[in-house]
Amino acid sequence: MRRREVFATAAAAAVYRALPAGATVPKAYSWDLSPPAGSREAFVAWMQDNRGEDPAFLRDRWARFEAMVANKDVAGERDKRAFLMTPREEFVLNANRERAYDHAFLDIGFGVTISGPHLVGRMTSALDVARGDKVLEIGTGSGYQSAYLANLTDRVWTIEIVRPLAERTRGIYDALIARGYSEYAAVQTKSADGYYGWEEAAPFDKIIVTCGVDHIPPPLLQQLKTGGVMVIPIGPPGAQHVLKVTKDAAADGAPRVARSDIYNGKIVPFVPFTKLEGDRVAGVHSL
Ligand SMILES: C[S@@+](CC[C@H](N)C(=O)[O-])C[C@H]1O[C@@H](n2cnc3c(N)ncnc32)[C@H](O)[C@@H]1O
Repeated sequence: MRRREVFATAAAAAVYRALPAGATVPKAYSWDLSPPAGSREAFVAWMQDNRGEDPAFLRDRWARFEAMVANKDVAGERDKRAFLMTPREEFVLNANRERAYDHAFLDIGFGVTISGPHLVGRMTSALDVARGDKVLEIGTGSGYQSAYLANLTDRVWTIEIVRPLAERTRGIYDALIARGYSEYAAVQTKSADGYYGWEEAAPFDKIIVTCGVDHIPPPLLQQLKTGGVMVIPIGPPGAQHVLKVTKDAAADGAPRVARSDIYNGKIVPFVPFTKLEGDRVAGVHSL
């Protein structure tokens, strides 16, 4: 087991009134907080002072960040900040914490996975989320994707079909909020079949789908605003293309959709977009 250093400076002991009792994050969240991205040392020191995180994980996060920037998997200052601010180690299984920043998807139980950081970065960057955007995620899984989104906008909805997984992830958010990660209070969660979207909260500026399906679910397209963007893996089981779908209006006002492949044709396998029969997950949605 790698030695984990404990943040124990005077700054860590300071109590900030805006933080909940028992918080371990030294400074209250603010949209103005942004870690320096010029060097690993400056990043790690800033994150220790402001977020109270473990320097060993922070060094891993920095190394993954550099690889993602070089590979163009994370684009734009807002997305870079969101990646650097999101503690992926909190969303993986304990057994996988040391691998949290590997270039790999990881098992999270229930037969599903947390997507690899490069994929999360590329899909989220393609969405181009601005602060204030309403974003819907289909496939909460570990909760990492929505946590990342909560550093881009304060309006996030996420749906998970596997109820015990949805409950476990809700518990992770609640525990992190209690520790001072107040940004995750922006994430609304529910367990349901995401094929039908979240009608009561619609319409959305952006929709991200993190499970693979052979068509765009009509309810999701309907719940996307005109001018909105959806990122969705489309294709047969285990062989999807990750598409960026934009919705606008033709001259006669009819909805019009344009698609582009964010990986220029590369096949990316996703876990299946399953469906509910009563309370039971059974089979997949397909045309
Ligand atoms: C790649 S995994 C999780 C990725 C997730 N965004 C993360 O950050 O860990 C995809 C998730 O989609 C969920 N899923 C599959 N079909 C679904 C559906 N119809 N509605 C909602 N979630 C679904 C799976 O149970 C799984 O948790």
